[in-house]
Amino acid sequence: MTESVVSAVPSGAAAGRVRARPPTDGARSIAEIPEDRDPRPGTGLSELDRVLGGGLVHGSVTLVGGEPGAGKSTLLLQTANALAKTGRSVLYVSAEESAGQVRLRATRLGALAPRLLLAVQADVRAVLGLVEQHAPDVLVVDSIQTVRDPETTGTPGGVSQVRACAEALTESAKRRRMATIMVGHVTKDGSLAGPRALEHLVDTVVEFDADRHHALRLVRAVKNRYGPVGEVGCFEMTQGGLQPVADAGRLFVGDAAPGTTGVAVTLTSEGLRPLACEVQALVVDSRLSNPRRVGSGVDSQRLSLLLAVLERRAGISLAGHDVYASSVGGLRLVEPGVDVALALAMASSCRDVPVRQGLVAIGEVGLAGELRAVARTEPRLAEAARLGFGSAVVPAAYDGDVHGLRIHRVPDLRTAVTVALDTR
Ligand code: TYD
Ligand code: MG
Repeated sequence: MTESVVSAVPSGAAAGRVRARPPTDGARSIAEIPEDRDPRPGTGLSELDRVLGGGLVHGSVTLVGGEPGAGKSTLLLQTANALAKTGRSVLYVSAEESAGQVRLRATRLGALAPRLLLAVQADVRAVLGLVEQHAPDVLVVDSIQTVRDPETTGTPGGVSQVRACAEALTESAKRRRMATIMVGHVTKDGSLAGPRALEHLVDTVVEFDADRHHALRLVRAVKNRYGPVGEVGCFEMTQGGLQPVADAGRLFVGDAAPGTTGVAVTLTSEGLRPLACEVQALVVDSRLSNPRRVGSGVDSQRLSLLLAVLERRAGISLAGHDVYASSVGGLRLVEPGVDVALALAMASSCRDVPVRQGLVAIGEVGLAGELRAVARTEPRLAEAARLGFGSAVVPAAYDGDVHGLRIHRVPDLRTAVTVALDTR
């Protein structure tokens, strides 16, 4: 984005010729400024509220990104309807489907609240006109790539059009204190002009985790000016739209037969809620001079690091092997607490020895092969116990206790492998 950085610098600045002018808004003691009350009314969709950090802040701009078919339009129509039912007026602008198509979906979703207005409009200035006319509390624009500004050059969906439209919508959101939600399409490689270029313009970026082949849809905030990031909202795509899944339980734990090698269970906790998740690995002899390392739902950098540590610190050499690793259910694991489980799954597949039945593993793996404590170990273990797991491998530094769990405190990966693999 070199272009925008350059153009954002006023031409006189470099020469030091920027002059002061009388301010329009003075500065006051912070203690004298009244607080915003009820700044964050709930959306009516509990899982979305969880992701947003409680609800939708007045005047906030939220970008909902995801691949085509992820469920963005579905989620937003449901949200718009839920908001309308809480008494707020909502304007849903579709720039991509006909009114009849949206109405068909609305019928399916039962999203027919009287305070929910629908317009089909692709000209961003006409959208602003609709906003002036109806003064909604919440505006939804589906999608930012299909609206255009006739006074800006460039093709719809291109960087300059998307930015111009988003800037116009953001300005009106702030001025009117109207919460605005925009849909942004993201392609598989996360590239397409739109959403990435927009992230710094908006307050909150919510993304669907990539896998649309599962009925489960995971939504998380990757940027949030008003709350935490990483909190995962779980939905299930059904005939009647996205249904919240408040208790993910064992949804991300597969049902491999006992004795299957290459699987390990961990608890990830990016936000407040710990999620039990199975990681799987398959290690096979490679005929390639450059063996394959393929990760799905797991970070490939992390994968390489763990392979190196397994080799040097735990005596498990995977050179000459192709390694495939994935998470179950399309959950994207980006948090270091899943390291040990991932390493154990690879060790298990390589040695063809299963991980002990009912065992979970939590911890970060350091370059020296040491196991490091991670945040929120206690609630993760409590969730494991609740789900009926019987034992846990944790870093030696963890000194807590969780009822119903046999806890193995281990100093390093080598010990973790010895403890966790069922070599009977
Ligand atoms: P959609 O919300 O249109 O995705 P996006 O706007 O992100 O492109 O729909 C995603 C998929 O969900 C689509 O393939 C149809 C399916 N779907 C259901 O299974 N049930 C439903 O009630 C709805 C509305 C859609
Ligand atoms: Mg859509």
